[in-house]
Amino acid sequence: MTTLFINIKELIQIRDKNIKKVSGKDMKELPTIKDAFLLIENDRISDYGQMADVPKTADKVIDCQGQMILPSWCDSHTHIVYAGNREQEFVDRINGLSYEEIANRGGGILNSAKRLQELPEEDLYKQSAKRLEEVISQGTGAIEIKSGYGLSLDAELKMLRVIKKLKANYKLPIKATFLGAHAFPAEYKDNKQGYIDLIINEMLPKVAEEQLAEFVDAFCETGYFSVEDTEQIIIAGKKYGLIPKIHVNQFTSIGGIQMCVKHNSLSVDHLEIMNPEDLKALKGSDTIPVALPSCSYFISIPYTPARELINEGLPVALASDYNPGTTPSGNMNFVVATACIKMKMTPEEAINSATINGAYAMNLSDEVGSITKGKKANFIITKEIPSYGFIPYSFGTNLIDAVYLSGEKQ
Ligand code: NIG
Ligand code: FE
Repeated sequence: MTTLFINIKELIQIRDKNIKKVSGKDMKELPTIKDAFLLIENDRISDYGQMADVPKTADKVIDCQGQMILPSWCDSHTHIVYAGNREQEFVDRINGLSYEEIANRGGGILNSAKRLQELPEEDLYKQSAKRLEEVISQGTGAIEIKSGYGLSLDAELKMLRVIKKLKANYKLPIKATFLGAHAFPAEYKDNKQGYIDLIINEMLPKVAEEQLAEFVDAFCETGYFSVEDTEQIIIAGKKYGLIPKIHVNQFTSIGGIQMCVKHNSLSVDHLEIMNPEDLKALKGSDTIPVALPSCSYFISIPYTPARELINEGLPVALASDYNPGTTPSGNMNFVVATACIKMKMTPEEAINSATINGAYAMNLSDEVGSITKGKKANFIITKEIPSYGFIPYSFGTNLIDAVYLSGEKQ
């Protein structure tokens, strides 16, 4: 079955298949074709080019006059499997409490863990599937999902099984990350090594045995998991073939980036607080920095210094961090707009960060993230827009006309 999209005003993010990510000044370039066609065969992109060279036949033809097509957003950092919400903490913060103060009195991650432990797996699945459908409608076409609101063997496995079921039931690529080291449960407050041992000796073997995750994560932060704690978890995860992708430098800079780079982490995520040594550590590595601007927006913390990272020749990926505490939104259109508005990324840099570089940050560059022959036909058709810069410019307006996953209109 072939479908031909014709008269595309601009076909965005055309890449050769050997491009896995873009870095530094290359991020300023966003290759496009104006007045283009796109041909898909079943679930794959099979051809594209200028309308002058449009193929003569196809099983189905769709006219995209005035509309643009771009690859789906690749959201490489989310926590969409969670129970209930935390709108009371939102109000508490408005009334003056900080994220840290709320966590210290038993709110925050522990609040979400309690709710999740009490919720049956089927209900957790339903709530999570609803969020997944929401972000698909907003243009996300590949996603990473973390555990980390279980904090016990059973509840962490429950989360990961929900992710596995989402993988089976939805058409977009989903990558699972084991984040048992998200916070210390109250009963381990004075026995932190005891919880780390539980993660290493009981959780990780089970996660590996049931093949429930490809990545391992930890919240490497003052008051959470130290650099040494995180390193223990990374080393243990690697024994089971799990690749590290780590939360680091959200509130403080404690040397986590250097350690993550040493262990070849696929990504380091957050990076709101960066000193010159942190930046230097990333240079020459394969570890991609991931910025989460919706989190900075929602809890009023600094934005990741994307300009400095890019000026140093580094790549940047953008992700949503969709979670109940710091980012109750998975809207990648808002992420791209906020990156432009608050982080001074150009529309080209932001779109590169949220597509090809997002794909790299979850080891999916061969499958998604660009308009490339052979890649999955996961893309967004915009409404009629004057230019692609209009996407971040008109933040808050829904400019999506249709989304396709594996060649099927959703
Ligand atoms: O990425 N920083 C750690 N984890 C989440 C927030 C967790 C929560 O507050 O529920 C984040 O921001
Ligand atoms: Fe996160």
